[in-house]
Amino acid sequence: MCGIVGAVAERNITPILLEGLKRLEYRGYDSAGVAVFTNAGKLERMRRPGKVSELEQALAGEPLVGRLGIAHTRWATHGAPCERNAHPHFSGDLAVVHNGIIENHEVLREQLKGLGYVFTSDTDTEVIAHLLNHKLKDLGDLTVALKATVKELHGAYGLAVVSASQPDRVVAARSGSPLVIGLGLGENFLASDQLALRQVTDRFMYLEEGDIADIRRESVAIWDVNGQSVEREAVQYRDGAEAADKGEYRHFMLKEIHEQPAVVQRTLEGRLSQNQVLVNAFGPQAAELFARVRNVQIVACGTSYHAGMVARYWLEELAGIPCQVEVASEFRYRKVVVQPDTLFVTISQSGETADTLAALRNAKELGFLASLAICNVSISSLVRESDLTLLTQAGREIGVASTKAFTTQLVGLLLLTLSLGQVRGTLAEGVEATLVEELRRLPTRLGEALAMDSTVEKVAELFADKNHTLFLGRGAQYPVAMEGSLKLKEISYIHAEAYPAGELKHGPLALVDDDMPVVTVAPNNELLEKLKSNLQEVRARGGQLVVFADEKAGMTNGEGTHVINMPHINDTLSPILYTIPLQLLSYYVAVLKGTDVDQPRNLAKSVTVE
Ligand code: G6P
Repeated sequence: MCGIVGAVAERNITPILLEGLKRLEYRGYDSAGVAVFTNAGKLERMRRPGKVSELEQALAGEPLVGRLGIAHTRWATHGAPCERNAHPHFSGDLAVVHNGIIENHEVLREQLKGLGYVFTSDTDTEVIAHLLNHKLKDLGDLTVALKATVKELHGAYGLAVVSASQPDRVVAARSGSPLVIGLGLGENFLASDQLALRQVTDRFMYLEEGDIADIRRESVAIWDVNGQSVEREAVQYRDGAEAADKGEYRHFMLKEIHEQPAVVQRTLEGRLSQNQVLVNAFGPQAAELFARVRNVQIVACGTSYHAGMVARYWLEELAGIPCQVEVASEFRYRKVVVQPDTLFVTISQSGETADTLAALRNAKELGFLASLAICNVSISSLVRESDLTLLTQAGREIGVASTKAFTTQLVGLLLLTLSLGQVRGTLAEGVEATLVEELRRLPTRLGEALAMDSTVEKVAELFADKNHTLFLGRGAQYPVAMEGSLKLKEISYIHAEAYPAGELKHGPLALVDDDMPVVTVAPNNELLEKLKSNLQEVRARGGQLVVFADEKAGMTNGEGTHVINMPHINDTLSPILYTIPLQLLSYYVAVLKGTDVDQPRNLAKSVTVE
């Protein structure tokens, strides 16, 4: 996690580093810092707890001007978020910024203390600075010393280093945490995500696992994991300009919620024929591979995991394919039994989530038929390392709480379900044509759900003074309830739990009273009557009910029951539609509570550590 920026140029690089950090704040934002080799010939740093704006303010008061530097925005893993633990970390005349976790930091720390090094932070990163300093004394060259240093590190890292003794270069190392070099004219840059450098270049070179790089103004040299000098391809950034302003909206999250009709439309573009899904949307070899699939294993984290949970209902019900879904952090450490001909599917907005990537890498050793990524970032590690890909076209998502990425993932997963069913001949007569037509109408339906914005805003008032909430759903609406409860806890800090409605009486009912609102999604399907009984169980205990119900479900407002009518939709697509009011609900509750909606406390957009 965290964000890294580095630069070596002829001009003052501090504004470039700061702009890069602002663009990377989605990765962590509990402290930020820069180290600059100033024009006075000294390596100096400025660090501040809190957001990048705090650092910017401090630098406005005491500018650091120089042509070489590194910067970092942090999401604390070792050591509290305070100035002392903020990066860059110094040892002698060198400075280090680090993403990831060094697992053997305690052993190294003791060794280095024994050698006389004094630690000024609680971070694992500081051991890298001292170890590198120690190696540099013997080896003389910064790049050579870095190569020797990383040999002793266990764990995951993306590293950038500058030293006042060799002020012509930024050196970098990647293992388990992405780094990209931005190529300029007579200047070069480094970052943990190319987004950070879009203001200075559109040409990038992606470091691979185990790479070490020596980045100077006029040259870039790279060595691979075996120490061999290698060339990495320079690529022109293709994904188009990224709008990073909120437009008319108060928060990125609200803007992203409202973008859903458009991005769902974009995700469908070029992937549907008159009445079928185009299987080759998953790649030219997809049809042949899909014909062999007998099982699906889905692995993901957070919101993406919930998308996978919805897909399980679709894959089993529509395509008749057994499907397992698991969170990546569990899957990667478990001894799994792989059924023959199982397709391994990962779902990820960023394509850089450490646990999901590790699960994919493990899966390659486990005998899966092939791997497929449903991902929003075309140049991500997950996409590069998977056999097949379907890119969701959500565009850049800035709000830490995922919204449009989720609904586009669901669309991608429904396309996958229909493709597998089509190729294997397991879809019931007419299902594909019906769903293709419904998918075409989906953006309009989503627009109708968004038009309920102000109704949901009103209902949000019920929650602002509550500490606990329960979300209920049945069938494929259960993962929708899980996603709704995740959204609420992420951004409003209200404790929320999701239950399959039928489980209510097996425990959570004990918690229900008039201080615990219960939110339910109730499409008009065969489970509706059962759900209505569950709701009676809540009302009988004095619980306040908020029900998002199909307009044809015959549910009406009553004392303690707030019914919000939803546009009617085909049952298969209802999880996508019912997600919208739940996103709006958490958004408005968070606004009422005055929390930091786009950057909720303790969380980060892209979790590149375990
Ligand atoms: C973090 C984000 C979530 C996201 C999860 C998985 O926790 O805050 O919004 O769902 O990571 O991320 P991915 O990029 O793999 O979908």
